[in-house]
Amino acid sequence: MSGDYILEMENITKEFPGVKALDNVQFRVKRGTVHALMGENGAGKSTLMKILIGIYSPDRGVIRFDGEVLKLSNVKHALNKGISMIHQELSPVPYMTVAENIFLGREPSYRFTGWVKARELEEKTRKLLERLEIDIDPNTKMADLSIANTQMVEIAKAISYDSKLIIMDEPTSAITEREVNHLFKIIRSLKKEGVSIIYITHKMDELSQITDEITVLRDGKYVGTKPSDHVTKEQLIEMMVGRELNQVFHKITAEINDVALSVKNVSKKGKFENVSFEVRFGEIVGVAGLMGSGRTEVMESVFGITPPDSGEIFIKGEKKIIRSPRDAIACGMGLLTEDRKLTGLFLPLSVQDNMITVSIDDYRKGGFLDHRRIKSDCQKLTEHLSIKTPGLNQTIKYLSGGNQQKTLIARWLLHNPEILILDEPTRGIDVGAKSEIYHLIFEMAKKGKAIVVISSELPEILGLSDRIIVMHEGRKTGELKRGEATQEKIMELATG
Ligand SMILES: Nc1ncnc2c1ncn2[C@@H]1O[C@H](COP(=O)(O)OP(=O)(O)OP(=O)(O)O)[C@@H](O)[C@H]1O
Ligand SMILES: [Mg+2]
Repeated sequence: MSGDYILEMENITKEFPGVKALDNVQFRVKRGTVHALMGENGAGKSTLMKILIGIYSPDRGVIRFDGEVLKLSNVKHALNKGISMIHQELSPVPYMTVAENIFLGREPSYRFTGWVKARELEEKTRKLLERLEIDIDPNTKMADLSIANTQMVEIAKAISYDSKLIIMDEPTSAITEREVNHLFKIIRSLKKEGVSIIYITHKMDELSQITDEITVLRDGKYVGTKPSDHVTKEQLIEMMVGRELNQVFHKITAEINDVALSVKNVSKKGKFENVSFEVRFGEIVGVAGLMGSGRTEVMESVFGITPPDSGEIFIKGEKKIIRSPRDAIACGMGLLTEDRKLTGLFLPLSVQDNMITVSIDDYRKGGFLDHRRIKSDCQKLTEHLSIKTPGLNQTIKYLSGGNQQKTLIARWLLHNPEILILDEPTRGIDVGAKSEIYHLIFEMAKKGKAIVVISSELPEILGLSDRIIVMHEGRKTGELKRGEATQEKIMELATG
């Protein structure tokens, strides 16, 4: 019966130049339920949701929402109808405050002059954040927020519209366990109020906690819909990848050699204090900690993005002054950043250009670039990581989130630095590609590279690392060897 459904999308088709993103897809969401939308990177999840919010119009198909046929002309239209969305790629306006960002375009204002009622705006925001128990000052500039807090603001913004249906496109990829639980609490209370939620994630463990039903897409096609408690993880993976997948990943231990990178007592005011650690060639060191623990900040300091106030950095026993990423790269380091949009991707450039940016000098031959070798190396990595793109010349902006992330990983594999720091390497990456990436990390260690992996996913840290460093509020609170580390021990150190 149609009345049970808040949303019915039928026969949705959408083609982009060179890509059939959606092919005759159906998607139905029952009222007051949390419905997961799953599928590999590039399966079409975000595209389907962008159609639902009015960013794209479908080539074909019908959308029925809350009893009426929707023909959306833009996002504002969808918001008015009661649909809002938390986007996969965050795009806050950096110089605005939290309050301005949340109520952008609908600020309380004076009737004749149109001036914004600043006090009321602040108050409204404060109330909203309080109701959601999000501890952020409405007057903070967006640029000063961590990515996790930016994500929390984005969540608050979507909820502030009091929508009937909220789309959440990978809302937990940038936050740690504590905020994930917070978000789940918010989702449960929204559900109680009768709000329906579409929830996109690559984290299988989240499904049983909050979702009622799961729909799977594969290669732009509808595969099926199942109740969450009637489907196993294995069945779901099979629906997503079209075959059984050997999910267990086996640690490959490499020979651990001399110290590659040694960081001694680095401090940065307000960020971290007296942090020391070392990484050896052949070793994978995991870095765990909650949001705000300073993990990312320490690594960005070591890499010269925000140099430390004090402390020393040694590479192969030699003291180095690293004032910029360029210095770090010259010392043989590489860093896959956590914030791919701000410090990683060059959105207007092609997949190939994004891949070779750091290695370009390796391809110079007598003043010329060896285009043929560039192309063949990039092609190989594209296949190896199964990056879904119509070609190497595709503008990276048009790739799905997970495929953008894979391209950044390819960048560092291509450059092949001696010391590689990976900050949340598998964020937004689907189950199948994850094990590929773990395998590549093991291979690099086996070739003698020194590797640091920051991750919020404890199973990932435990599975990859030879040694684990835990941070809490800007300090290193412990170090655990592989074998002695457990989720509980890490959490204990991470919560101080
Ligand atoms: N504006 C666009 N122009 C060209 N191609 C696009 C555009 N948007 C999406 N695509 C392509 O459509 C396909 C589906 O992309 P989509 O972003 O919907 O995937 P997804 O399921 O959300 O993947 P992920 O898990 O990586 O986020 C991909 O091949 C992508 O490259
Ligand atoms: Mg997506």
